[in-house]
Amino acid sequence: MLLKKEHQEFREKVRAFAEEKIAPLATALDIEQRFPHEHLKPLAEMGLMGMVVPEQYGGSPVDTVCYSIAVEELSRVCGSTGIMIAAHNSLGCFPILKFGTEEQKKKYLPRGTRGGELLAFGLTEPEAGSDAGATKTTAVRKGDHWELNGTKCFITSASHAFASVITARTSAAPGVKGISSFIIEKGWPGFEIGKKENKMGLRGSDTAFMHFTDVKLPVENQLGVEGEGFKQFMITLDGGRISIGAMALGLAQGAYECALKYAAKHKDGDVPMGDLQAIQWKLADMATELEAARYMIYGTAMMKDAGVKFTKESAMAKMYASEVGNRVCYQAIQVLGDIGFRTGPFPAERMYRDVKLCEIGEGTSEVQRIVIAREVLKSVAG
Ligand code: CAA
Repeated sequence: MLLKKEHQEFREKVRAFAEEKIAPLATALDIEQRFPHEHLKPLAEMGLMGMVVPEQYGGSPVDTVCYSIAVEELSRVCGSTGIMIAAHNSLGCFPILKFGTEEQKKKYLPRGTRGGELLAFGLTEPEAGSDAGATKTTAVRKGDHWELNGTKCFITSASHAFASVITARTSAAPGVKGISSFIIEKGWPGFEIGKKENKMGLRGSDTAFMHFTDVKLPVENQLGVEGEGFKQFMITLDGGRISIGAMALGLAQGAYECALKYAAKHKDGDVPMGDLQAIQWKLADMATELEAARYMIYGTAMMKDAGVKFTKESAMAKMYASEVGNRVCYQAIQVLGDIGFRTGPFPAERMYRDVKLCEIGEGTSEVQRIVIAREVLKSVAG
């Protein structure tokens, strides 16, 4: 795909960083289920912790194509680092920037962008996953604070984030209307981090429960307008879904490159694998689907930057890229055969496990189809 010079140069810069600093640790993080603390400072120094944030709050703003490229390139070598950066930028920084007060932006954004500390996003609950509007966590106004009770689950970077944006029901208004959002800080009395998940993939990424018991949230930590929390989080997810698509693309690109290099060099008997049509067809399908997914992701990124509505396109790009990612990683292992099934020397098996999350996180592929179908039906409704 022909990119503008600035996008190409940005890719080269992030790829060099990812290969030098991130890739060498990726296998160990996965095997040991170890959170990549050591990556945070270098990522912040590279400006990758504040890609959606203006300079006045310590950010290193880039357009959404560059942001997608960054998540893609990090994920190409390490999915756990890719999701950590995607969740921090899209789901942590973005809602504070978009809906926060000046004080909130000054207080929370620079610690993430310059300081290399993470922000998290608490939406999902044990009984409110795909149906995010079924939120059961409550916040009750008590004078100068809100009293928060409830549980969030599957929260990326929950244990390590210094602050998180979360949703809670603030009124008895039916459905999504009674949901508001807040910023909560790690260590506040009554806020406990629960069980860390033992996952099939993305094992270096931290995923944990958050438990709230009578947590006092100062009124100044309400995010945006009361009752608008669900909408704010849906708007946030529109952008976040581009980055999950980019993550799937990066993981699949990494696995594809393993298969491609192996097929180009390895002989089975006297025949180079790349001469076999069975292998050629797989490589051709993988390369084509990756390119199609890339066009969709960058195209949606351009729509976001142009300020036009991109709800449908981000759901399409996320759904398509994550399904392509799963197909490509599966075929990469198939090309590599038994060597691909082993842990090392090729990281394709890690990527095969990691990419499954992309069909689940930030809304399953089924949720994306609901979003897309609603949008296309709306377009013909009277
Ligand atoms: N932009 C702006 N407004 C939006 C919107 C959007 N994208 N989506 C919905 N809204 C508004 C609607 O216009 C509506 O407003 P009005 O009542 O004023 O008309 C209101 O929000 C309610 O919308 P819906 O009726 O569509 O709400 P719903 O309850 O039917 O939503 C759903 C259904 C789309 C499936 C939604 O629940 C959803 O997206 N679920 C998936 C949640 C999700 O992605 N969770 C992932 C958590 S984060 C995560 O996984 C992070 C990680 O760690 C990887």
